[in-house]
Amino acid sequence: HAEGNINAGKQKSASCTSCHGDDGNSMVATFPKLAQQHSSYLVKQLHAFKDGSRNDPMMSAMALALTDEDITDISAYYATQKISENALPVLDSDDDNEKPAGKKDVQALIAQGSDLYRNGDLKSEVSACIACHGPFGEGNKPASFPALKSQHADYLIKALTDFKSGARSNNPENIMYMIAKKMTDEEIKAVSYRISMM
Ligand code: HEM
Ligand code: HEM
Repeated sequence: HAEGNINAGKQKSASCTSCHGDDGNSMVATFPKLAQQHSSYLVKQLHAFKDGSRNDPMMSAMALALTDEDITDISAYYATQKISENALPVLDSDDDNEKPAGKKDVQALIAQGSDLYRNGDLKSEVSACIACHGPFGEGNKPASFPALKSQHADYLIKALTDFKSGARSNNPENIMYMIAKKMTDEEIKAVSYRISMM
């Protein structure tokens, strides 16, 4: 079945819940939420972990155990799940405490991230995220641009940092590398905080 079997996918995802949570609503900031993600994007990432073009010590082993059919079924299942209100992100409250003089507080970072997401940055030539990831962070299903909304800020920061360093290099045409390498660490944090609250 090319579209994937949702019910079979639910069964097969049992070994994923310990990290990705019930129905893909991970409660751990460094484990990405998979609920609502476009199935074509999930399929592509699972094949990338399996063939080694995307590396993660935990995921590479998990993906190796999956057949092509498992990958399609599990991806179909997660794509039909909803982000749970209970798993909405909680920003790292430590940030309120560590605000050395001159550093921005969380609200200012979120405003900066909002601007970057919508308008990009002309001076540093960072493209506007909205163009591919959509006004609500919903991504673009036909184009396989991933949904980002409500994703954990810590995971988003890691993903963008990995694109920037080249550690995550399987993105097509190096799109995300070209964008992330122009971003400062502060911009990465700002836009990640913003997206996590979408
Ligand atoms: C990332 C699926 C099990 C830890 C991912 C991604 C997918 C996925 C599709 C990429 C998400 C994205 O790019 O937005 C699965 C499936 C599993 C499974 C189908 C079960 C068969 C696990 C387990 C762990 C885990 C058991 C923990 C031991 C992680 C981590 C990442 C990740 C840490 C982020 C990797 C990175 O930072 O690049 N998983 N997962 N996963 N998964 Fe899993
Ligand atoms: C993936 C953020 C702009 C196309 C991602 C991911 C993040 C991200 C965090 C990884 C998602 C995950 O692991 O679940 C951003 C931000 C942007 C931006 C913050 C603006 C500063 C764009 C633009 C495009 C684009 C303008 C299209 C021209 C993609 C694609 C992927 C991706 C194709 C999937 C890459 C892959 O297969 O690994 N983006 N993005 N993004 N983004 Fe962006």
